[in-house]
Amino acid sequence: MGISEETAGKGDITFPKGFVWGTATASYQIEGAVSEDGRGPSIWDTFSRTPGKVVGGHTGDVACDHYHRYRDDVAVMADLGMQAYRFSIAWPRIQPDGSGPVNPRGLDFYERLVDELHGHGITPIVTLYHWDLPQALEDRGGWTSRETAERFAEYAAIVHGRLGDRVETWTTLNEPWCSSFLGYGAGIHAPGRTEPGAAFAAVHHLLLGHGLATAELRAAGAKQVGITLNLAPISGNDPLAVAHIDGLQNRIFLDPVLRKEYPADVVERARRFTDWSFVRDGDLDLIGAPIDLLGVNYYSPTTVELRAGQPANPVHPGSEGIAFVQGEEERTAMGWSVVPSALTDLLVRLSRDYPGTPLIITENGAAFDDVLVDGRVADERRIAFLDGHFRAAHAAIEAGADLRGYLVWSLMDNFEWAEGYGKRFGLVHVDYASQNRVPKDSALWYREVVRRNGIQS
Ligand code: NOJ
Repeated sequence: MGISEETAGKGDITFPKGFVWGTATASYQIEGAVSEDGRGPSIWDTFSRTPGKVVGGHTGDVACDHYHRYRDDVAVMADLGMQAYRFSIAWPRIQPDGSGPVNPRGLDFYERLVDELHGHGITPIVTLYHWDLPQALEDRGGWTSRETAERFAEYAAIVHGRLGDRVETWTTLNEPWCSSFLGYGAGIHAPGRTEPGAAFAAVHHLLLGHGLATAELRAAGAKQVGITLNLAPISGNDPLAVAHIDGLQNRIFLDPVLRKEYPADVVERARRFTDWSFVRDGDLDLIGAPIDLLGVNYYSPTTVELRAGQPANPVHPGSEGIAFVQGEEERTAMGWSVVPSALTDLLVRLSRDYPGTPLIITENGAAFDDVLVDGRVADERRIAFLDGHFRAAHAAIEAGADLRGYLVWSLMDNFEWAEGYGKRFGLVHVDYASQNRVPKDSALWYREVVRRNGIQS
């Protein structure tokens, strides 16, 4: 009461004891060295080299050269006081053809990285699949094929066999929504297929891969196993349109993983694209086996409304008549609206609808048009963005959400998929010509947040 709009929500906040702070990256976005030490080709090598697929024709060939500079990058994290680091393993470094012989030099690299992290007191959080599928598996059907799920479980067991004694937290997949609907449905991401039916087959085989890999990791004694989903609150003035998009974006993954079932309304609506015959007896028991942690990637909410004559958005199969609308909010360089309160809503909804599974924010952050001036990046918009979202996460904890940690996307500027290097999400600025790293003002601000385990305004 009596609190003005600008000051509402400001003030000191402290996170629960043991709350984990860190940053996140992914192999293809930062490593480079795509032909080194026996790495095989991935679908992103193929896709990014296909003219017209990535802005500026950019590829991950060099990226942040992290493969050679990982020691420096870990030192930067340590300087920033980071407690955890989420990174992904490139499957084609471990099995160049996606199956069969193991390439020990690939495992060596991640072992060196993990040891370096431990040496600086930083907890590694491993993602097994962040989109760089071995091309050889795509050539046999990729995620539309059940075989890929089986190969993925074998690969997971191989990685755990080498790193299991020094990594406690494992996530199977990153954002299977992107792999399936952007990769196989809309063709915006690798492998660039444009068949809605294939997208639904990919959803199921990705989830089956998660289930089979989880079983392998459990059998091998993995401490914590989870999955990362990109989730978004959907709102709008028509409940059916909201349910449709919420089903395709959120529930199609949440329900199988946390309730052992596909949502009936999604199954019905997708029947014009698929007969779902790829779902076999027992699959949902595997997919829905308990997990220890749900990774939440949150960037922006979605608002929809009914609009006669609106053609389907290729990203959301069957979305004819539904328009995606933008409010008046601030937008990031990606064009994504900035709505911190939607993060509170999302976390509270997850705790209400899917109780019992601890949550961790595995990604949140923003791209802005940062400029390096006299050795400094004054990215006050990113600071405001993070400040707002940390407060929103804190509000969710106060409302009862079991949120255990927060990993900012991203440690450093990197290859932003179809957008190439033009979109900068990093806390640390990367000059791609010199590979020089400069912590932005937001990184220095974040260091204080981590040190205090909260925000002092
Ligand atoms: C989610 C993805 O996991 C990550 O790879 C990407 O760079 C960020 N979102 C930003 O788009």
